[in-house]
Amino acid sequence: MNNLKHIAIIMDGNGRWAKKQGFLKRIVGHEEGAKRVRELTIHASNMGLKYLTLYAFSTENWKRSDAEVSFLMKLMDKYLKNELKLFLDNNVRFDTIGDLSKLPKNLQERISYTKEKTAHFDGLTQVLAVNYGSKDEIIRAVNKAIKEGKEVDEKSFGQFLDTKNIDPVDILIRTGGDKRVSNYLLWQIAYSELFFTDTLWPDFTAEKLQSVIDKFQNIDRRFGGVK
Ligand code: FPP
Repeated sequence: MNNLKHIAIIMDGNGRWAKKQGFLKRIVGHEEGAKRVRELTIHASNMGLKYLTLYAFSTENWKRSDAEVSFLMKLMDKYLKNELKLFLDNNVRFDTIGDLSKLPKNLQERISYTKEKTAHFDGLTQVLAVNYGSKDEIIRAVNKAIKEGKEVDEKSFGQFLDTKNIDPVDILIRTGGDKRVSNYLLWQIAYSELFFTDTLWPDFTAEKLQSVIDKFQNIDRRFGGVK
């Protein structure tokens, strides 16, 4: 059995899902996608996972239409408001990575409030990547280290990243058919097992997550060593 602490997911395919179902608006796919976020959080919490990191909004997603960006911001706010009870009932801590300073004030407040209310939990940590880009994160980390006048090594550099104190990613999943990592957790996936599936995010059920985990358990992980 491989040690499994951290699963990270690129939740792609919401727009295509909506189109495939005959909806005229892409945003219906985001709404359905939010239901999978809930379902997978429950599954991850029940199986004793430590970290589930979900790519909710990238530094590049600002290029989308104003209407879609605004919908996604409101959806995240609504999601956090609705899911607080889920977090409280399941010992789930909430955290984020990414530069929150560019988000609407009400969403920033909702994020702080949710973090505060769940800070003491020690079960699953659900990490939302919001206005997150790995290159942006690394540059911010480098500048923090320079400001502190510190030379870094691999271990100490990790402490300047948004993911400080979070274990490395064991499994990276991308739904929606594309095989790329899109500026997601570039430092943290150095030794991750990568899974790409054609399933669109709104169809990615807990059962599908479990089948990825089952495959992961059969992989011989050597981390550059020999067995
Ligand atoms: C990519 O699909 C998805 C996003 C950019 C947003 C992810 C958001 C959610 C899963 C829903 C909300 C999340 C939370 C935490 C409430 P896409 O729109 O690029 O799909 P496409 O490739 O088919 O166009």
